[in-house]
Amino acid sequence: MPDTTGPAPVEQESVERRSIEQSSAGQSRVAVEQSSVEQIGENRIRIRVGDREFEADSLCPHRKGFLAHGYVNAARLRITCPLHHSSFSLETGEAVTGPTRTPLCVRETTERSPEPVN
Ligand code: FES
Repeated sequence: MPDTTGPAPVEQESVERRSIEQSSAGQSRVAVEQSSVEQIGENRIRIRVGDREFEADSLCPHRKGFLAHGYVNAARLRITCPLHHSSFSLETGEAVTGPTRTPLCVRETTERSPEPVN
């Protein structure tokens, strides 16, 4: 019999964000940033923003909203809970807006190339 006590499985959702950047010479260009949220295991999610990747708790520290359904702000590197709209920094976990001040457990998992040795 399937386990029906946990959250429903979440398909990976990819979102394309476009923003207009202004150069110092006054020229504008459209920057495109991809973001996605994916459930990994029972309690964790993976968030990809451009070439950066983060893992976080899948439940919001406020009242356990499903962050796999959260909104990712690629420009500010934040995820917003769909339940009461607290938003959290993906870089620090800090609760930036919303009804909670409790931080989200998050860490960056981006693989970086090793620094060149001189
Ligand atoms: S459950 Fe996420 S803000 Fe309330």
